[in-house]
Amino acid sequence: MNVIVCTDYAEMSRKAADIISDLVAAKPDCTLGLATGSTPLGLYAELVKDHRAGKISFKDVDTFNLDEYRGLDPDHVQSYRYFMRTNLFDQVDIDQSRTHVPDGSNPDADAACAEYEAAINAHGGVDLQLLGLGHNGHIGFNEPSDCFASATNCVDLTESTITANSRLFDSIDQVPTQAYTMGIGTIMSAKKILVVANGQDKADIVARAFFGPVTPQVPASILQFHPDVTVVLDQAAASQCPTE
Ligand code: GLP
Repeated sequence: MNVIVCTDYAEMSRKAADIISDLVAAKPDCTLGLATGSTPLGLYAELVKDHRAGKISFKDVDTFNLDEYRGLDPDHVQSYRYFMRTNLFDQVDIDQSRTHVPDGSNPDADAACAEYEAAINAHGGVDLQLLGLGHNGHIGFNEPSDCFASATNCVDLTESTITANSRLFDSIDQVPTQAYTMGIGTIMSAKKILVVANGQDKADIVARAFFGPVTPQVPASILQFHPDVTVVLDQAAASQCPTE
């Protein structure tokens, strides 16, 4: 695991954007696994800048997002499809038909999840999977559990996740209680993994996830077993990591 500690959020965002930009430049038809949340906003803004500066084109890139709320249709302002359009897809030259987000509007959870997993497999997998980190160690929406879920599945969100994500909704009762998410197995199948985390409030979970025991109670800890993981942190998020 390669851990890169940056001075601040801006440097973290630029460093993470460089890793994605370099991949897109080297392999213009790469497949990116994308994430939502506040953490990647800065790096998406940097990718948009790189595109506008003529450094990268997304026209041959395919994308698969990690997750989507169950029950929100793609035009809902809190849907992850809407988030991706606003923060990246509508601002670059990507072919929207090559972008994939689980279908939160499909009430048939088994079908929606099976279709998504099959689409990723039929496509040949993901070259680089971007991940943020939930405060409880969730990746995608894989919440702490007694076992690691392998494929795309429907999860019940924990109270802490609902509370954390309610900041983006008008009220907590509007936050969906379930989501469709790539499984831990889906995530671990990506060739490369890039994790971003910033802020003091992530310091404890960063230390537990990357330097503590591997356990499904801290889903991100499984990443310690992946052969190609880069973790980009700001100083605050790295502040509880052991020093050599
Ligand atoms: C959500 C998403 C995760 C994301 C997490 C952290 O629950 N499903 O993919 O990593 O939030 O979000 P933030 O970056 O806002 O802390």
